[in-house]
Amino acid sequence: MRLEDCKDDIVNVLISEEEIKQRMAEMGREISEDYRGKPLLLVGVLRGAIMVMADLSREISVPLQMDWMAVSSYGAATKSSGVVRILKDLNTDITDMDVLIVEDIIDSGLTLDYLKHNLESRGPNSVRIATFLRKPDVQKVDVPVDYVGFDIPNEFVVGYGLDYAEDYRHLTFVGTLAPHVYGG
Ligand code: IMP
Ligand code: MG
Repeated sequence: MRLEDCKDDIVNVLISEEEIKQRMAEMGREISEDYRGKPLLLVGVLRGAIMVMADLSREISVPLQMDWMAVSSYGAATKSSGVVRILKDLNTDITDMDVLIVEDIIDSGLTLDYLKHNLESRGPNSVRIATFLRKPDVQKVDVPVDYVGFDIPNEFVVGYGLDYAEDYRHLTFVGTLAPHVYGG
């Protein structure tokens, strides 16, 4: 869905489709260099990371496998609960693999902090993190992020995988929602 299809719901386009495409290509090149000759496994975090996984993986020029985890920390609200539950685990044995977690956004960092430690306990060679977006609050938990697409201000955004109440994931860009959408 493009801006002209939902103009009334979006107050600001934060990152355009073109900017996303360009940044994914840069990140893909960087990751390709870092993982040359290594058994790379991309672990996408459902459901928000589907778009970044699809686009970023296609910009990576070394062999890789993909797997998915589903965790819950948010529900339909816009504030992190800090409680992380695994709803779907990996199908892959990650022993001796170089794991790169692919996330849509890091807000508090609680989700990724939990995920990283969980995966590290399974005997992989390495666990690193790539996130499409990062908000300033992430300093609260000291989780090292190896690849960041964009640093954004502390506001609730939607699009390119990111939802509000499960809608707006299919926007081609990242934008800020108009207050009337929240029922405010
Ligand atoms: P954290 O545990 O606070 O880092 O939360 C990370 C998760 O919260 C992300 O994977 C998203 O699902 C969700 N989230 C955080 N900020 C936003 C936002 O601005 N828009 C949509 N979802 C968000
Ligand atoms: Mg998510």
